[in-house]
Amino acid sequence: MRTPILDLKTQLNGIRGQIDSAINEVLSSTSFIMGPSVEIFEKAMARYLGVKHAISCASGSDALLLCNMALKAGAGSEIITTPYTFFATAGSIARLGAVPVFVDIDMKTYNISVKELEAFLAKNVKRDRQKNVAVNKKTGRTIKAIQPVHLYGQASDMDAIMQLASDYDISVIEDAAQSIGSLYNGKYTGAMGLAGCFSFYPTKNLGAYGDGGAVATDNDDFAILIKTLRAHGGKTKYYHQLVGINSRLDSLQAAVLNVKLPRLDEWIQKRIAAADIYDELFKKLAIRKVTIPFRARNRNHTFHQYVIRTPKRNELREFLKQNEIGSEIYYPLCLHQQECFAYLGYKNGDFPNAEKAANETLALPIYPEIAPEQQEYIAGKIGEFFKE
Ligand SMILES: Cc1ncc(COP(=O)(O)O)c(C=O)c1O
Repeated sequence: MRTPILDLKTQLNGIRGQIDSAINEVLSSTSFIMGPSVEIFEKAMARYLGVKHAISCASGSDALLLCNMALKAGAGSEIITTPYTFFATAGSIARLGAVPVFVDIDMKTYNISVKELEAFLAKNVKRDRQKNVAVNKKTGRTIKAIQPVHLYGQASDMDAIMQLASDYDISVIEDAAQSIGSLYNGKYTGAMGLAGCFSFYPTKNLGAYGDGGAVATDNDDFAILIKTLRAHGGKTKYYHQLVGINSRLDSLQAAVLNVKLPRLDEWIQKRIAAADIYDELFKKLAIRKVTIPFRARNRNHTFHQYVIRTPKRNELREFLKQNEIGSEIYYPLCLHQQECFAYLGYKNGDFPNAEKAANETLALPIYPEIAPEQQEYIAGKIGEFFKE
């Protein structure tokens, strides 16, 4: 039974009429940039998250970049994050001349380990109470932010992270690119830190039909900064207070997202139901060498990805491919091991948990419309693989 890692067509077919008319409306208006659909979306997104401001931009990568620019991250500053994430998390730091500083992950959730974070801060960081900043004692650089990533759709341990950040006077910028709709103690991811960054890349739980992103924040001043920076640093056309970038969500993508946002919770529930089915199937199979996703207390995992872990990952992936079952590795190489970050001076073995995850995790097909029979087939094949 052929099952791709993802199927965007079935969902589109179900909303095709609405999408066509939303797109046609934008075409007829010829208001392609910052048209009414953008403002409607920003308001709806802010309402959904329960924040004061949602500022749209061109991508999740730009959302991170804009936040780091707003924090004035650059040469002489550092941002603490996880080495086990999509490249943009650290790329958005490094391209400003700031230094990404990695802290290992928790092996259960694959998110930044608060134990490791606490140890890192205690050992390396001192708070400068006069200047209200945190400084890395070894490098002398200012720690501008902690950037937790809510990987695969499950929140990082935000209470602990927010407490540590407040103890050291460091801002928190959440990378919620994979976790829209995901809750931590009843609060939405991306709505707890100074700001949260979202991606509407087509495969995301709320995906546009092209690139798109947003920054969410409750802080009025920060919102103004982001809005200014996304428009080349100008509050009014042709008058520039800052050097910003051009990063806008185009009206067509906003129109698509306006159709999809009201359906998001329903689609998330279907993903969770599909994850429940996988869990049950794997529990029945009881394969010693397969670890299923851990669901942390007080959080609703929204299963942007359903990721299993096994030391036989590469062989299993090949076997699934032979049986026309899609799978993906998020991510095969940690960020501290990337060629472009060799200058940071990390070496293999520095983050054993992240490296183990990179060697052993495998994402299985999951999307709201996946059929239980497909999942039974996939689990059955995985059972067959481990019997051989
Ligand atoms: C964790 C994480 N951060 C940032 C991004 C960047 O988002 P985009 O692809 O919209 O630029 C992604 C998207 O893949 C992501 O998964």
